[in-house]
Amino acid sequence: MKSRLITVFGASGFIGSYVVKRLAKQGYLVRAAVRDPSAASFLKPMGDVGQVTPVQANVRNQESVIKVIDGADGVINLVGIFRQIGRQRFDAVHCQGATNVAQAAADVGSRYLVHMSALGASLRSPSIYLKSKAAGEKSVTKVFPNATIIRPSVVFGPQDVFFNRLATLACFSPVMPVMGCPYPKYNAGRIDFFGNGGTLFQPVYAGDVADAIVQTMEDDTHAGKIRDLGGPEVFSFKEIIEKILHNTGRRKFLVPVPFGLASTVAFLAELLPVPPLTRDQVTMLRNNSVLDGEANGFLPFDNTPTSVDVMLPSYLDKYCKGGRFSRFSGA
Ligand SMILES: NC(=O)c1ccc[n+]([C@@H]2O[C@H](COP(=O)([O-])OP(=O)(O)OC[C@H]3O[C@@H](n4cnc5c(N)ncnc54)[C@H](OP(=O)(O)O)[C@@H]3O)[C@@H](O)[C@H]2O)c1
Repeated sequence: MKSRLITVFGASGFIGSYVVKRLAKQGYLVRAAVRDPSAASFLKPMGDVGQVTPVQANVRNQESVIKVIDGADGVINLVGIFRQIGRQRFDAVHCQGATNVAQAAADVGSRYLVHMSALGASLRSPSIYLKSKAAGEKSVTKVFPNATIIRPSVVFGPQDVFFNRLATLACFSPVMPVMGCPYPKYNAGRIDFFGNGGTLFQPVYAGDVADAIVQTMEDDTHAGKIRDLGGPEVFSFKEIIEKILHNTGRRKFLVPVPFGLASTVAFLAELLPVPPLTRDQVTMLRNNSVLDGEANGFLPFDNTPTSVDVMLPSYLDKYCKGGRFSRFSGA
């Protein structure tokens, strides 16, 4: 076992659990910095006895951050939120919290810091999520210039929110929304409802993102670099909905939803205790989530990114009409 100790913030999250698993497999000692250590005990069996230890920390609390970074050779910060609730504001978590982590990592002389941002992060973005991610990047690199920034497009895997939420919708809704289509227009003798099919995405597998993060730590050439990550294919929102329907064996009407209408729906959804869609998420969808030139960004890494077609059937089958075994005749 490597004696190097890595502190992972956001270890209990979707991408965090992949990162912890890979670090443990590589023999690192993992300190999983989480807000609720008992809820993160599922991480322990990912390593040998005592190899993965959940410890309490909140990135908004500098004292707790300093404690869990003490003695660490490397730090990975995967903390993020997708909607604001209570004191969990985008700025507080993505910028101030990220700065707390970077400052503590710099103070203890951590050898590396990997910081998770998001594709499209920009100080000029109209999305407050993406703007706070950009502010976080700026602040982190000021405090820890050698930090590596990872910026994935939408991430997929069995526990993802994006594909699972749309597949859940497909189970009970008679129609499926295609976000970001133009208003219908008459074109060459027919009405065009979907335009180019809405927002473009380059979904990237969580396991590939985790592999890239671990390689980042083991190779100094990534220090101080921004790594945009996307999968091998680009899909429109419409193509993604079609993939979900194909993999769940369902047939639904597709409904084009222009952004103006989506914002109104999101406004109403925000009245719910747990909104399935927010206006800021609609704002984010106004920009495609693809890499420049649609390259996948894995060139500096050893791994070849995984296609959604390889993974989706393995976890969307539970949404199949008649249950997960209904695809097999006689089951
Ligand atoms: N999933 C994607 O498609 C995607 C795409 C681009 C970028 N990203 C970025 O990747 C990172 C990980 O995403 P994910 O999908 O794994 O999200 P996730 O499943 O929601 O995990 C987020 C993690 O952050 C932790 N956290 C939240 N607030 C915290 C705080 N104040 N202090 C300490 N920990 C806190 C959560 O722990 P609790 O259990 O305590 O809440 C959880 O472990 C995020 O930065 C996200 O913005 C994700």
